[in-house]
Formats: sequence, C-alpha cells, structure tokens
Amino acid sequence: MCEDNIPVGAVHVWDEEDSEAERESRLVYRKGITHAQAVECYATWSTKYEKDMCPGRYKGPMIAGKAVADYFESDREKKKILDIGAGTGFVAEQLKSHGFVHIDALEPSSRMLLRAQKKGLYEECYNEYLCQVPLAIPNDTYDCAVTSGGMGEGHIPCSGILELIRIVKPGGIICIVMREVYLREVDEYKDRLEPLMDSLEKEGKWRKVSRVIVPNYFIDITGIVFRYRVI
Ligand SMILES: C[S@@+](CC[C@H](N)C(=O)[O-])C[C@H]1O[C@@H](n2cnc3c(N)ncnc32)[C@H](O)[C@@H]1O
Repeated sequence: MCEDNIPVGAVHVWDEEDSEAERESRLVYRKGITHAQAVECYATWSTKYEKDMCPGRYKGPMIAGKAVADYFESDREKKKILDIGAGTGFVAEQLKSHGFVHIDALEPSSRMLLRAQKKGLYEECYNEYLCQVPLAIPNDTYDCAVTSGGMGEGHIPCSGILELIRIVKPGGIICIVMREVYLREVDEYKDRLEPLMDSLEKEGKWRKVSRVIVPNYFIDITGIVFRYRVI
C-alpha cells in the first residue's frame, strides 16, 4: 500500500508489497550484520529502495522533515543541515519542501548516494560512515544534523553521537528518527544509547528538546524521534 494519505493511527492491513519491503529492510538491519555488509546490501537494494520505501509505507523522512522544520520556525533558507545516512535523498526532499536550502549529505553507500546526487538536492556529499572516526568536517559547521533510518544493527554506532555534537553549532539541533524497538533489540543501543544521551545531557553537551513516539513510522511499526539542542 503506497498511498501517502493514510491517516496516522489508522489500522493497516499488510499487502504483499509491504511484506516485500519489510523483507528487504530486515536484510539490511539483520542481527550481526557488519557496516560493510550493510552497505553492500544497500548497493543491491538501491535499485528498488524508493519503490519499497515509498512515502505511504515509510514515513521517517516526512517525520524528520517536520521535526526539523518545527524547530526552525524562521530563516530556514539560512540554515545549514547535514542529512546523515542520506540514502537516495528522501529526507532532503522533505527539508526542501519546508524551505530549507543548504543541505549536505553523508552516506556510506555510493550507489544510494549516486541516486541522491542525481536529484540535485545536496551541496556537499560525503561518501562516508558516521562512526567514532572524526569526519573531515570542522567543529560547529551545521545548524542541524538529522537522520531517518540511519540507526539500526550495523548502522550508526553510539559513538557517532559524539561526532554529531562536535559538528553541530551550539544552539543547533540533532534530530534522530528511528524504529523504537531498536532501542531494545539492537545490542549496540540496548541499555547504551539512551543512557549515553542522558549522560551527555548531564555533562552539558546537549539538552533534550523532545522524545516522541510516532505510530506507523514504517508500515505499522512504531518509530521514535529524538531532538537535542547542542550546548
Ligand atoms: C534505511 S536507509 C535511510 C535512507 C534515507 N535517510 C531515507 O530515510 O530514505 C539507511 C541509510 O543509512 C546509511 N548508513 C548505514 N550506516 C551508516 C553510518 N554508519 N553512517 C551514516 N550512514 C549510514 C545506509 O547506507 C542507508 O543509506
């Protein structure tokens, strides 16, 4: 079912295409997958990613775009945003529809990134992973770093959060949209991600703006949206 006007909260009956999309996503987020294997899977999936993850089925980009837009009520055209795990550019499409202009992409899969680049959505594109290794991006570069779908098994590790705080300016925000169940099911995040977020808040590195559970993030699977203001 790929209509994008299904009301949030409506009961959704899965069809064969939903099941196919879920099968593909289960492959890229499967237990024990390495970063390199995940990127390999995206290379294969890139040809039909947009069909499987169409807006009626995968609302992460729409949710992320709105979460960022709600924070920046004015001067959106002046804000500099990094789209982490940019994929084929769905989040940037949403950001543009809200009036953001200056968007860069960070995406380790060159096949996914190529598709995004063809759309002309991004200024700079970094074909890299977000992890504990420092990015070639100076401190305090962005007003916002956002990811939708970038968190999961074999995807962005907890250590990536520190790098995000480094490259986002004080007063800017970090917005993370992900499957809620991954907080418990992914070993990298279980009892680690939210405790890390809390300890960074206690250390005065950032302050929580909101933590919101969203129904139907992907088909009828629940998502979660974190927004933190960098201090
Ligand atoms: C489910 S896709 C989401 C793509 C896009 N944000 C969207 O919402 O359609 C997840 C993306 O995260 C990327 N990714 C995986 N590990 C990553 C990492 N460590 N750092 C940055 N991106 C990563 C993948 O290559 C993939 O393109």
